[in-house]
Amino acid sequence: MDDQERLERNREAWDLRVGAHLGSEFYDLEGFKAGGSSLRSFEVEALGEVRGKRLLHLMCHFGLDTLSWARMGAEVTGVDFSGEAVAAARRLADEVGLPARFVQADVYDVADILEAESYDVVVATYGVLVWLPDLAEWARVVARLLRPGGVLFVAEFHPMQSLVDGELRISTSYFRTGAADRDVAASYTGQELPAHVQSTWPWTVGGLVTALAGAGLRIERLDELPVDLRQRHPRMALGDDGLWRLPGDPIPLLLTCLARSVGVGGLGGGVAEGGGGREQR
Ligand SMILES: C[S@@+](CC[C@H](N)C(=O)[O-])C[C@H]1O[C@@H](n2cnc3c(N)ncnc32)[C@H](O)[C@@H]1O
Repeated sequence: MDDQERLERNREAWDLRVGAHLGSEFYDLEGFKAGGSSLRSFEVEALGEVRGKRLLHLMCHFGLDTLSWARMGAEVTGVDFSGEAVAAARRLADEVGLPARFVQADVYDVADILEAESYDVVVATYGVLVWLPDLAEWARVVARLLRPGGVLFVAEFHPMQSLVDGELRISTSYFRTGAADRDVAASYTGQELPAHVQSTWPWTVGGLVTALAGAGLRIERLDELPVDLRQRHPRMALGDDGLWRLPGDPIPLLLTCLARSVGVGGLGGGVAEGGGGREQR
């Protein structure tokens, strides 16, 4: 099986998840409909004021985060290759009355479909990088979409997470390469699903930084955080901030990265400047 076939199979796997996720406790759709936001404080602090900014959310699932940015005044476009996800995102936008554009496309095709060099902000968050067979090409796509001075914000599960088992023993190599095809019958939201196969690709922190730098982006911040969005191991405890931690913070659980396009005229004009710098933890 080649990577194109894997991507197609993954797309079907994501179609399968949308219905289950819409009703899940994890996504708390009702809280969002009641006026809430799905964004975490450190995401909001990282980007600063987004009102009036053109924001592109890559691999946006059914648009909860995309619409949360819209609720903050951003002019949003969400992209996902799952037709079910995009249809659900459009329905949700209509229901809550938020302006948003949702486009069904493979992330690798986005720079050919959307407006080049026009986005102030590109966002890719939580469970996106492992679905990418080619990180360098993905970074080049992002670089083509950002206006000079625009920023990419990545928030992602730290690759250390995928190394350890429930007892925090290292169970695989950080440096493994190539696609992993796994049989699955449930989603991370807890719901059971018909048995199917999903393919993921491993990546390292160095691989991410090198891909972004290779695409000409300037890395302004790379932060590693000892918190997670959900309880991945029984030992994790929930903090007052709604995030989960391992006792003693032994390994990083999330990472965030801010990278800026420094194309012609781009230095100094970005979203995070003038008040958007973040303090976290
Ligand atoms: C884990 S979800 C993203 C989660 C999102 N931050 C959220 O919590 O709603 C991953 C999304 O990436 C999409 N996706 C995976 N591979 C893709 C690709 N090659 N092109 C476009 N979308 C893709 C899936 O359809 C899915 O909606």
